[in-house]
Amino acid sequence: IFGYQSLFPREEIPYDDDQEGLKEQIVFKFSHVVAENTPKGLAAQKFAELVSEKSNGHIKIEVFPNGSLYSDIEEINALKDGQVHFIAPSTSKLGMLSPQWGVLDLPFAFPTREAALEGLNGDIGRQLLQSLQSDGIKGLAHWPNGFKQITSNKGPIQNPEDMEGQSFRIMQSNVIEAQFNRLNADALQDSFNSTFQLLEEGKVDGEENTISNIYSKKFYNLQKHLTISNHGYLGYAVMMSEKVWDEQTEETKEILLESMQETSAWNNRRAFAMNEEQLMTIKQNSSIQIHELTDEQKQEWKTALDPVYEEFSQEIGSKLVEEIKELRA
Ligand code: LMR
Repeated sequence: IFGYQSLFPREEIPYDDDQEGLKEQIVFKFSHVVAENTPKGLAAQKFAELVSEKSNGHIKIEVFPNGSLYSDIEEINALKDGQVHFIAPSTSKLGMLSPQWGVLDLPFAFPTREAALEGLNGDIGRQLLQSLQSDGIKGLAHWPNGFKQITSNKGPIQNPEDMEGQSFRIMQSNVIEAQFNRLNADALQDSFNSTFQLLEEGKVDGEENTISNIYSKKFYNLQKHLTISNHGYLGYAVMMSEKVWDEQTEETKEILLESMQETSAWNNRRAFAMNEEQLMTIKQNSSIQIHELTDEQKQEWKTALDPVYEEFSQEIGSKLVEEIKELRA
């Protein structure tokens, strides 16, 4: 186990030409589980670039993609233990910290990109980030990825009944699991990094994810069917440990916050579009069969999944559930 002192590997480097002489470089580690050519992968790089620019190279953010440092199951504890400084887990995995996060997993919670941004940048998003404080975590920002789609090998999925008897890898979220159970499908909660192998070895028939994850991890090469359902939101909460945050100078805090704000605005403009572009690439380059839900079919899915709102209202908090329902209207 590393002590806190070893957290900031400091290198003596001349980072400016003033008379103060050599200053220590501050190095932060940013760990995440997805590929680099995804909304989160690119946002993490952008953040690192902005921090470096604004600090004249004094502060360095080292980005570790693809779960090369920690899996999604490990990264929250690694953050709490001070072994990594920034993580951006999918909000679906934060139920282990507070059940409130389940609100973002409710089926069809955000009908559009605009509704998602309104919810995340408004009261719902703020409350959720604040809830991290009780775990000693500083919630810095929401970085949306996009909407989830469904892939499978077993058979085309168009109507909710088509899910029956099929098995899927899902993220670590009881609110998501309840939706699959409601459709009589088997749901296996497992890490993102095991998903490719689960699909390859046929341990599950399919999975649900955003196009950017389906594309960058090549799940589409292993699956016969892709249903464009947009049935749920997938996005990230960017976080630091409060302890590490408190140890920083005001100047460092300002640079980190400013860079985070600019990165978030940049990601908000690009993330959803990136998923759409990668869907085009999948269409052009693979033989996967793509099924777009009609409005009528979508309505059937909503009707089948709607009881999940009531089922989790108490656990998530009825106020939050009501607030998110307003965005659906
Ligand atoms: C997943 O586990 O499928 C996603 O949360 C991965 C990610 O971080 O986008």
